[in-house]
Amino acid sequence: MPKPKIILGIETSCDETAAAVLQKDGDRITILSNVVASSAELQSKYGGIIPEQAAREQIKSIIPVIDEALNNAQISKDKIDAIAVTQGPGLIGSLLVGVETAKTLSLLWKKPLIPVNHLIGHFYANWIASDKSTTIPHTSHSTPIFPAIGLLVSGGHSDIVLFQNHGKFKYLGGTRDDAAGECFDKCARLLSLPYPGGPQISKLAKEGNPKTYNLPRPLNSSRDLDFSFSGLKTAVSNLISDLDVNNPQVIKDLCASIEQAIIDCLTKKTILAIKTHKIENLIVAGGVAANPKLATELQKNCQLPTVNCKLFIPPPLLCTDNAAMIASAAFFIKPAKNLLDIQANPNLSLAY
Ligand code: KG4
Ligand code: ZN
Repeated sequence: MPKPKIILGIETSCDETAAAVLQKDGDRITILSNVVASSAELQSKYGGIIPEQAAREQIKSIIPVIDEALNNAQISKDKIDAIAVTQGPGLIGSLLVGVETAKTLSLLWKKPLIPVNHLIGHFYANWIASDKSTTIPHTSHSTPIFPAIGLLVSGGHSDIVLFQNHGKFKYLGGTRDDAAGECFDKCARLLSLPYPGGPQISKLAKEGNPKTYNLPRPLNSSRDLDFSFSGLKTAVSNLISDLDVNNPQVIKDLCASIEQAIIDCLTKKTILAIKTHKIENLIVAGGVAANPKLATELQKNCQLPTVNCKLFIPPPLLCTDNAAMIASAAFFIKPAKNLLDIQANPNLSLAY
């Protein structure tokens, strides 16, 4: 079977319903369309995601979103060479909507189906060619070269992996409790900021002083490549009982201090991984990678003569959940031999 040149990607792991059409021309992967419908605003009313509600919203949006992706790409289904879908991890109800829709379309349209691990998909946002500048001016638009260290920082995961090649990676470490995004979200909730909390904290942090509150950096001096963020959330919870949370400057300083503590932990272990494995390429991915301060700190550290590593971070819209990253990853994965082998798997991980 010839390698697919045009892939329709489908992503429904959580509260985003997304579809995208991507084209691969030689080594260059470009976006023909990229549609994301989110129920985050609805979920925000309840301070977090209600899985059943997220799944119901997926069902409402999936067909219109796929239609819109094909329309925006200005291609008919006949031009699609393969369909890619997020297999997991995520919320089972949400995943099932994408996986079963993709299986049905694959049968109807007679197109191969490529299952993608959502976490691996995040990294492949770094393989998409972009004409627009990314969050950091130094980031190159070329693609990463293996071996590379991968840092995944999302709402549910904070992992460090060593990529030896496409599809070949080794888990080096990760969070022992809350993920970095989860920590942003939980701290935001303590401060009565809306969900998702990461972007809110990041925005308020710009006007705050990160040195105001001395928050813990758990596991920061351990030699492993693990993180722990639940203690940070507890420290914030204890601290605010003594603070005037009605004073906007207090909130801004607290946001800046929280953001700095999370970034310090992520940067320390990522740089340790680069040095330990003598790596020259760092690929960062996941919703928290949209944080501009994290990008700046990683870049500053990567440029140190003792580190000297090239940094790749996708533009913010490709850091948070989207289907372009799923289609991009699928260019490097073989289609499933049997459709029945593809089952939604909420527990997929990077730690094999
Ligand atoms: O990758 P993602 O969109 O979904 C998952 O796969 O989990 O990540 C969502 C997470 C949320 O926790 C959100 O608060 C966080 O990414 N996030 C940010 C920023 N934008 C999104 N965290 C910090 N700063 C941001 N700018
Ligand atoms: Zn994600």
